Amino acid sequence: MATGGQLEGRVAIVTGAARGTGEAVARRFAAEGARVVVTDVREELGAKVAAELGDLVEFAALDVTQEDDWARVVGDVAERHGRIDVLVNNAAQLHMGPIAKTPPDVFRRIVDVNAVGPYLGIRAVVPAMQAAGAGSIVNVGSIDGLLGMNGLTAYTTSKWGLRGLTKAAALELGRSGIRVNCVCPAGGNPEMFGPWFGQISEFLEETVAYTNNRGIPGEASLETIASAVLYLASDASEHVTGIDLPVDGGAFAGHFIPGFNEL
Ligand SMILES: NC(=O)c1ccc[n+]([C@@H]2O[C@H](COP(=O)([O-])OP(=O)(O)OC[C@H]3O[C@@H](n4cnc5c(N)ncnc54)[C@H](O)[C@@H]3O)[C@@H](O)[C@H]2O)c1
Repeated sequence: MATGGQLEGRVAIVTGAARGTGEAVARRFAAEGARVVVTDVREELGAKVAAELGDLVEFAALDVTQEDDWARVVGDVAERHGRIDVLVNNAAQLHMGPIAKTPPDVFRRIVDVNAVGPYLGIRAVVPAMQAAGAGSIVNVGSIDGLLGMNGLTAYTTSKWGLRGLTKAAALELGRSGIRVNCVCPAGGNPEMFGPWFGQISEFLEETVAYTNNRGIPGEASLETIASAVLYLASDASEHVTGIDLPVDGGAFAGHFIPGFNEL
C-alpha cells in the first residue's frame, strides 16, 4: 500500500496486533508513515508481524491486564522515541455461552481484558500525551457494545463498559489536547470465534441471516475497520472526541425487512 503520510512522524502503540484487526491497523498506520509498536500476548506471532511490516514497526510483549507491562512498554517507547501520539486499545477476548454457562472467573477475565485493559492503557499513556499537549486514543469496541446479544453476556458487558470509558475519558482529557473515541465494528477476525466454530456452524442459516439483515449485508473487512481507526487516530478527526463510530453496514440504523423493498 502506498504511503499516505497521514501519520508521518507519529508514534503509535497498538494492542492485540499480532493478528486480525490489530495487525490490519498496524499495517495501515505504517503505510501512513507512523512508527508502530505492535503489542500482544502472542509474542512469536507479534514479532513476525512487526518484522514483516518493516523498519518503522517493532514488537513489544504486553498483556493489557498487567500494569507492570504497561509501565515497561510505555516507558521504553517514550524514552527511545520521545513521544506517544496514538494508542489503539484493540486487544480483546471473547466468551460465548449463556449466563448459566459463564462462570464468574470467565466473566471477570473478559471484563478485565476488554475494559480494564484499555483503562490501564489510557492511564499509562496520558502523562506523555499531556506533556505534549496532544494525543489520540482509539478504543476498538463492537456492534455488541451498541446492541445487546444473547450468548455474549460477558463480552457485551465489557464492550458497553468500553464505550462508557471512552466518553468519560474524552470529557476528562479534551482540555489536555487528548481525544478519545471508539470504533464499533460489525466484523473482525473470524479466528476470535475459534473455540465455538463447531457450535456456531449448527446455526449457520441464522447467523448468515443476522449479518444480512443490514443496510449493507455482511461484515466489515479488517481493512475497512483499520480505515475507521486511522480516521480517529489522525488529524482528519481533530475536533471529534467521545464518539462511537459504527462500522456496521447500517446494522444500528434500524430494522431491515427484505420483502419490504418489494412493496
Ligand atoms: N472478531 C469479530 O468478529 C469482532 C467483531 C467486532 C469487534 N471485534 C473487536 O475487534 C478487536 C480485534 O479483534 P479481532 O477480531 O482482530 O480478533 P483477534 O482474536 O484476532 O484479535 C485479538 C488480539 O488480542 C490479543 N489479546 C488477547 N488477550 C490479550 C491480552 N490480555 N493482552 C494483550 N493482547 C491480548 C490476542 O492475542 C489477539 O491477537 C477486538 O477488540 C474485538 O473485540 C471483533
